[in-house]
Amino acid sequence: MILTTNPSSLDLALAELQRAQPGARLVQELAPGVWRVALPQHFYVLAEQWRRQPPIFARHICPVLAEISLPDGDEVISVLQAVIADFVDLVDPSLSFSVQTRLFGVTPLKPFTVNQALAAAMQQQTGAPLDVRQPEQILSVVIHEQMAYLGLSLVIHNLSDWAGGVRRFAREEGQISRAEFKLLEALEVFRITLPPYGLALDLGAAPGGWTRVLHKLQQYITAVDPASLHPSLKQERTIRHKRMTAEEYLAQGADAFDFIVNDMRQDARDSARLMVQYAPYLFPDGAALMTFKLPENGRRAIIKHAFNILQSAYTIADARQLFHNRSEITVYLRRLPITEEVRYKMVRMA
Ligand SMILES: C[S@@+](CC[C@H](N)C(=O)[O-])C[C@H]1O[C@@H](n2cnc3c(N)ncnc32)[C@H](O)[C@@H]1O
Repeated sequence: MILTTNPSSLDLALAELQRAQPGARLVQELAPGVWRVALPQHFYVLAEQWRRQPPIFARHICPVLAEISLPDGDEVISVLQAVIADFVDLVDPSLSFSVQTRLFGVTPLKPFTVNQALAAAMQQQTGAPLDVRQPEQILSVVIHEQMAYLGLSLVIHNLSDWAGGVRRFAREEGQISRAEFKLLEALEVFRITLPPYGLALDLGAAPGGWTRVLHKLQQYITAVDPASLHPSLKQERTIRHKRMTAEEYLAQGADAFDFIVNDMRQDARDSARLMVQYAPYLFPDGAALMTFKLPENGRRAIIKHAFNILQSAYTIADARQLFHNRSEITVYLRRLPITEEVRYKMVRMA
């Protein structure tokens, strides 16, 4: 298969892979963070395992069912189209499909040309409907120099709906920070929908990218940060800025919220402790989203420790290193019902 990860997290993604599939090994790097991997078992064994319990650092996987050496010149497309015949029996004609092409190294091809040509061949030979927006099955094509690697899988088995997990958003007018993409991606990947006119708390809000995203989603926002928010947010009546630290806001007595987000630049374990202290201020079906800022070394132990702290007050619904995360991961939390036992653990952990 082909595995994609943030290049600086390769060691952690490999550890996840080898825990899931002892004996799996890296074969060849096709581009930074993109690896051919040899698996001891069928791709679907791993894919199904990871569908149920997604890894944090492996961002995208796709199977390799055909490996072909490409000719020079114009016949490339017809050679690729001919390979489709090998896939016909694997395609479920009742499910929609899409082609995802990635090109690495020196090649005259363009992803769009390959996608179009292979989609036409797939449709003609299988009758499956093409749906580039919400496909159910994916023909993955990875071309590296003269070699092409093709595979077919259900999109739910690829860890991400996007080729290589690369989710790009268009820059918008009025955008405040690149961090906005991080929140947009998390809401999409974790399938979080916010209640209309919900109450949101943004910890470490400045300069205000996440606040702007939440504002666009019609939330009433309390933005906590000792630093300034972008001037464009100052006039908004549904945004109030508490110019103080999250610790100070907690000490003065916070309000109750539907959704708490935390992108504070802070040690992940301290940030987790603070989130435990904030848990009583979440409505019972409330959710929270936070980033863990991670140093170069000891990341696994820090994540484990921070999870341990959080679990006294939350269920860890998901945790992923998203495309827009750099030296960090994004964690999605759901509040535990506050029983006597949970209250006791929360007090101890906080
Ligand atoms: C990465 S920035 C947040 C970016 C923001 N999410 C956005 O979209 O614009 C981190 C912020 O955390 C704030 N911060 C760090 N420690 C804090 C604390 N204890 N309480 C509140 N804010 C804190 C910093 O002032 C900084 O503005």
